[in-house]
Amino acid sequence: MAKIIFSNIVLSLLLFLLLCNFIIDLEASNHDLNQPYRTGYHFQPPKNWMNDPNGPMIYKGIYHIFYQYNPYGAVWDERIVWGHSTSLDLVNWTPQPPAFNPSQPSDINGCWSGSVTILPNNTPVILYTGIDQNKSQVQNVAVPVNITDPFLKEWSKPTLNPLITTPNGIKPDRFRDPTTAWLGHDGEWRVIVGSSTDDRRGLAILYKSKDFLKWTQSVKPLHYQDLTGMWECPDFFPVSITGSEVVDTSLVSEVKYVLKVSLIETLHDYYTIGSYDYEKDVYVPDLGFVQNGSAPRLDYGKFYASKTFFDDVKKRRILWGWVNESSPAKDDIEKGWSGLQSFPRKIWLDESGKELLQWPIEEIETLRGSQVNWHNRVLKAESSLQVHGVTATQADVDVTFKVKDLEKADVIEPSWTDPQKICSQGVSSVKSGLGPFGLMVLASNDMEESTLVYFRIFKSNDTNTNTKYVVLMCSDQSRSSLNEENDKATFGAFMAIDPSHQTVSLRTLIDHSIVESYGGGGKVCITSRVYPKLAIGENANLFVFNKGTQSVDVLSLSAWSLKSAQINEESMPPFIECDDSHSVIQS
Ligand SMILES: *[C@@H]1O[C@H](CO)[C@@H](O)[C@H](O)[C@H]1NC(C)=O
Ligand SMILES: *[C@@H]1O[C@H](CO)[C@@H](O)[C@H](O)[C@H]1NC(C)=O
Ligand SMILES: *[C@@H]1O[C@H](CO)[C@@H](O)[C@H](O)[C@H]1NC(C)=O
Ligand SMILES: *[C@@H]1O[C@H](CO)[C@@H](O)[C@H](O)[C@H]1NC(C)=O
Ligand SMILES: *[C@@H]1O[C@H](CO)[C@@H](O)[C@H](O)[C@H]1NC(C)=O
Repeated sequence: MAKIIFSNIVLSLLLFLLLCNFIIDLEASNHDLNQPYRTGYHFQPPKNWMNDPNGPMIYKGIYHIFYQYNPYGAVWDERIVWGHSTSLDLVNWTPQPPAFNPSQPSDINGCWSGSVTILPNNTPVILYTGIDQNKSQVQNVAVPVNITDPFLKEWSKPTLNPLITTPNGIKPDRFRDPTTAWLGHDGEWRVIVGSSTDDRRGLAILYKSKDFLKWTQSVKPLHYQDLTGMWECPDFFPVSITGSEVVDTSLVSEVKYVLKVSLIETLHDYYTIGSYDYEKDVYVPDLGFVQNGSAPRLDYGKFYASKTFFDDVKKRRILWGWVNESSPAKDDIEKGWSGLQSFPRKIWLDESGKELLQWPIEEIETLRGSQVNWHNRVLKAESSLQVHGVTATQADVDVTFKVKDLEKADVIEPSWTDPQKICSQGVSSVKSGLGPFGLMVLASNDMEESTLVYFRIFKSNDTNTNTKYVVLMCSDQSRSSLNEENDKATFGAFMAIDPSHQTVSLRTLIDHSIVESYGGGGKVCITSRVYPKLAIGENANLFVFNKGTQSVDVLSLSAWSLKSAQINEESMPPFIECDDSHSVIQS
């Protein structure tokens, strides 16, 4: 007996080592020179076009992500299908067959975005938008064929689809993206669908149902706002006012509500914080919030059509967002793919109750390899320090700055109210404020190419506010690539911190063609896509820089090389960790 067990152990060990070698080989080949922009740990299908994340959930301990997928090419096509992948840790993903394709009169011209609702009997159900025979947008249902299969590989569509047709007064091409449904006090289901009227009033049209199948439009929408145009991909969810923990159902006290809409007129995701009036069945944003292009954004860079779900195992809400390319369609066709998902982010309400915070999910730590740590270094005026010892193309960097001499900051020009515009002036052309200081990522050896993520601090011009300083965060792509055909727009946002009492922190995830940055512990997120020609592989470098006239302290810097995750690699054995020390997978 003992002998048999022993040889079994030896055998599995051998197999394990073999598999690990196999993985390492694949990792190396992952980034051949023909595909320098494919990512190491951001979700993407092996090829073709991907846009919105759909129906994220956890079911029987398995995470699921569905996504808008064009199986026929690297450009969008209206006859889009629901791609599907599953994961044990939100980091490594196994591809599943598409959940469903256009097949019925109610979706024959496309299966567009939607959401999952897990019914009280623990059955997940999908509501999605179908483009019907007449090219009208209608809402359909899909259900798992076998609910004992935790991977939910097969889905079916009842013939009673569509459940909801375009309502009176709404154009047939302006009615889409049902949310996760929720139960009201009266025991009835509610769901909202994004829409707009002809005169650009954006709408979250509310429907109610007793049985999830027969839906009736409520007299009033859950919320609306004039002059905002079409509301795509609405997301409506509760957040705890007492901290980052718990909150799934809509019936808990001690909660605020968040309404997020994706405005097609600006291609950005905006959120407001408010309350849900159960009696009137309407959402009321808190004072100071308006559900339009003046509302705060989930991300000030490339990030759209986002969606959250509640992870009831780890008691957290998780956000996914589509990160579009910034390259011309011909380049996407040439490389054979288009679109990424943001790294999954935990999202919760700040203790002020006035903003949402976001942070990469902790599982990212399982990818961490070699690490660099700095403490208390002075970053002199007009200087930079290179961060040696991490893979600059695939890294996680967390840096904290302390700014002294705040008195030396310049007063912000009163006309500088648009942060993106200030950031677009560049780092050198305007000498004003403290800084710019921050990270220079994906920098080529000769610095011809680089992407700058940085801060500038100004004195406030407004003596009425109690904030004495204005902190600006920018992500500058203008020199990110020698290729002039890409969209290299610079992004920016103001960050609500007081640098006289708080440090200025920046976490940046670098992954070949995506730079995802979190300022102030997740107060401001900026995601950008970059396509360096020179700063590839060994020729990419990472720096901390200060182009300002005053020195800045780097209180701490931690940077890690990140290993490649296994993302939709069909040939790979899923969920094998080579390094025991951070094994998150229990087999
Ligand atoms: C398509 O439009 C025609 C004419 O308006 C209508 O008779 C038919 O019922 C519609 N079909 C569907 C599937 O809605
Ligand atoms: C349903 O899924 C379970 C678990 O994967 C499997 O054992 C069973 O054979 C499936 N049933 C059918 C009818 O396919
Ligand atoms: C948002 O609405 C407010 C109040 O109606 C208005 O003052 C503001 O200009 C609007 N902003 C945008 C970008 O539409
Ligand atoms: C995606 O990116 C391309 C290239 O920058 C741009 O033309 C297009 O408008 C973007 N689409 C969305 C929905 O963001
Ligand atoms: C702020 O700007 C206004 C002009 O809009 C100017 O009159 C005022 O002096 C400025 N305040 C400070 C503190 O610089």
